[in-house]
Amino acid sequence: MSADEKEMVTLTIDGREIQAPKGSTILQAAQRAGIEIPHYCYHPHLSIAGNCRICQVEVTGAPKMMIACHTQVQDGMEVKTHATSSAVKAAQAAVMEFILINHPLDCTVCDQAGHCKLQDYHYEYNARPSRFLEEKVHKVKAEPLGPHVILDGERCIMCTRCIRFCDEVTGTSELGMINRGDRSMIAVSPDRPLDNPLSGTVVDLCPVGALTHRDWRFNTRIWYTKQVDSICPGCSTGCNVKVAVRDNKIVGVKARLNDEVNKEWLCDEGRYGFERFLPENRLSGGLLEGKEVSAEEAITALSKLDIKPSLVFLSPDLLLEDFFIAKKFIENVLKDVRVYVAYRERSLSDVEKILVSPDYAANFKGAEYFGFTVSEENYNEGLKELAAGKAEHVLLVGER
Ligand code: SF4
Ligand code: SF4
Ligand code: FES
Repeated sequence: MSADEKEMVTLTIDGREIQAPKGSTILQAAQRAGIEIPHYCYHPHLSIAGNCRICQVEVTGAPKMMIACHTQVQDGMEVKTHATSSAVKAAQAAVMEFILINHPLDCTVCDQAGHCKLQDYHYEYNARPSRFLEEKVHKVKAEPLGPHVILDGERCIMCTRCIRFCDEVTGTSELGMINRGDRSMIAVSPDRPLDNPLSGTVVDLCPVGALTHRDWRFNTRIWYTKQVDSICPGCSTGCNVKVAVRDNKIVGVKARLNDEVNKEWLCDEGRYGFERFLPENRLSGGLLEGKEVSAEEAITALSKLDIKPSLVFLSPDLLLEDFFIAKKFIENVLKDVRVYVAYRERSLSDVEKILVSPDYAANFKGAEYFGFTVSEENYNEGLKELAAGKAEHVLLVGER
């Protein structure tokens, strides 16, 4: 067996025979086979906390319910989920009822409504009215945890995903849990806010509406948005993102799971930097002899000029197609020009290094692929030439 080939075990889930890698959990085996087992605290790239208990399943021979996120598969194991076990159904309904005892149920004003696991699982695994008549425990409703993230303590279900992210991924440990029982709450120290370069990621990880982005709260309901899969252009890591668009404007950005690239993390610069793509922040026209003109007028005026630039700067954010056209244009039309790629590097903190690449160049590999030289030294040469005023006409391609 090669190192890549994992030893497999055979088990049944709800009577269906499946195979799963030895050492994986029942939850992972079920996901692999397309069988749903609900989960809140489990995340594939965080340690197992096993605290929400919603993933319970029956395992033949086991004296009690097992949590699927923390039970390893065994050869010959027989597992029953809510689909075939009334005991599992009852246990999951009880967990939902317990989690919702003190929940404020302010879905009508909650940003998570419409994509909330608490709402979804309530309908799927409980769907009965609350029997809780007493006064609910009240907690903070809009507590800033740092520059980007705000907490609604009453909505938190104590899954600890946010705490584990700051402990295990960024290593900054700003978040902790204070108090006990139904008074438990997520908190930061007064002198240590949640302010690491990946801090907005905790909002994506929160399965409910407890954590929200300070700048994007209440800006829309999710059902008015179109969710578009995209890639962050902030650096060459190329984090996978989901962009929420409403009325042709970006109203939110969240990480899209990609085990190979960004797991489910995003840096704050990339996430909140998406605002530069708002229509009002983009180049929409030109300047002609000091006067503002539309893009069409600028292009028409440009096409009538009989000039040839001697210096060309290419943005490292160009698409492969743009680089291809630029190369053809330079080779066949401009011919005798110096070409520089606007490539810059920055130094990164240890937390940034988890995700961020040192370049500001989403596609510098594309420039290299088409034979352009990409280095900071080379770009500085171009800037020196520009500063010396040797070039009468300069062509800039791209926005950055
Ligand atoms: S967290 Fe979910 S269930 Fe709670 S108020 Fe928000 S949408 Fe409703
Ligand atoms: S704030 Fe969200 S992610 Fe953090 S423990 Fe509460 S529910 Fe979980
Ligand atoms: S997902 Fe298994 S205990 Fe929370």
